[in-house]
Amino acid sequence: MITTIEKLAEHVDQTVTLRGWIYNKSSKGKLHFVQLRDGTGVCQCVAFKKDVDEELFENIGQAGQESSLSLTGQVRADDRAPGGFELSIQSGQVHQIVDGYPITPKDHGTDFLLSRRHLWLRSRRQWAVMRIRDAVITGLRNFFDREGFVCVDSPMFTPNACEGTSTLFNLDYFDRQAFLTQSGQLYAEASAMALGKVFCFGPTFRAEKSKTRRHLTEFWMLEPEMAYAELEDVLSLAENMLSATVAHVIEHRGPELEVLERSVETLQKIVPPFPRMTYDEAAKILAEHPDSSFEYGEDFGAPDETILSNLNDKPLMVTHYPSAVKAFYMKRDPKDDSKCLCVDVLGTEGVGELIGGSQREDSLDLLLERIQEHDLSMEAFEWYLDLRRYGSVPHGGFGLGLERCVGWICGVEHVRECIPFPRTMQRMEP
Ligand code: 4AD
Ligand code: MG
Repeated sequence: MITTIEKLAEHVDQTVTLRGWIYNKSSKGKLHFVQLRDGTGVCQCVAFKKDVDEELFENIGQAGQESSLSLTGQVRADDRAPGGFELSIQSGQVHQIVDGYPITPKDHGTDFLLSRRHLWLRSRRQWAVMRIRDAVITGLRNFFDREGFVCVDSPMFTPNACEGTSTLFNLDYFDRQAFLTQSGQLYAEASAMALGKVFCFGPTFRAEKSKTRRHLTEFWMLEPEMAYAELEDVLSLAENMLSATVAHVIEHRGPELEVLERSVETLQKIVPPFPRMTYDEAAKILAEHPDSSFEYGEDFGAPDETILSNLNDKPLMVTHYPSAVKAFYMKRDPKDDSKCLCVDVLGTEGVGELIGGSQREDSLDLLLERIQEHDLSMEAFEWYLDLRRYGSVPHGGFGLGLERCVGWICGVEHVRECIPFPRTMQRMEP
């Protein structure tokens, strides 16, 4: 019977076939120990010379790291074996004998590995991150489904900017210019007016000249948007969503968190309610902090976010930023026109911004003013203005950067390890 390593517990003492690749191997006289990986896990498989045919024993002996093979044998439960099971090989087939796989268990530089990303994905740590990324996506989708949100995706080609014109990728779209989307939000607002509670989830693009551990030029963003919602609703959605997603990962990706040496105890603390503070309160903390060069009125820099992000063992929700540093669509605070009804959610342990969101400007006249102030093309926004002409209501939502969220949950420093094939300012290959 063909099975996978993650299902071995169901087959103790039975004879099964595993199909995979050699992760590591050692030999001792009449014995080969193969660490077989099959995509679902790693299992030690033992070949005794006397138990298998000569050719197979010979071939396993010659097969280097990443040789492909299927192995049939009896599953033994063994507490000392990594993963808890071992396969006693009876028969099998070596599909390809490999010699000289470029990524060995020794330490390689990151640049070397990034150039071989197509192979690097096979490594244990990358495997764990990709499996957790998958669980984050499932956890998010399950959450939104339970909460009654409908997935309505936004386009990637767009005629207008959403987050400011300085980070747009241009492209030729037949005989006119188009941009790659920076955010699906404006379309999600239209979808919310049609379906109530929606989210879009897809790739977004930023031509940011940032070479930090938090920036990709192509990243995935999940953006919920709710009709009849105010800032308070946006805040509680954000904390409930993050908590539910972390809980889903803890439940379904225990072994992967272990590979990454990520403390489950730390993650278990991520439950609502999250601490909140206003921009002004955060500014006061930074002003008194020796490591901050923050100036009041500016957006927080990465070092400032790191300081704030280290204050609590739950994500921090910072609200009411100066409208001058935020996007045109954010609604101003009726109590203080210089601030807007927005939130940035900063992860724990210094990771910085995971989520940016707001209540949206719902007045046609004010939105017209904002578009002018930001020097945006009125023509391109005509359709968006219709949402304020026909049945405008208070509404809001946010965007969660998937890779930042995955990095935070994994305890992985750099977002480039949190997407299968990272695109950054310096790198578009492989
Ligand atoms: O804060 P941002 O720019 O917000 C928006 O785009 C809104 N339109 C979202 C909305 O309200 N629907 O981006 C949202 C999140 C950030 O908090 C961050 O997690 C992630 O997207 N992000 C990036 N992730 C990786 N690389 C980049 N260059 C990123 N820029 C933003
Ligand atoms: Mg932001």
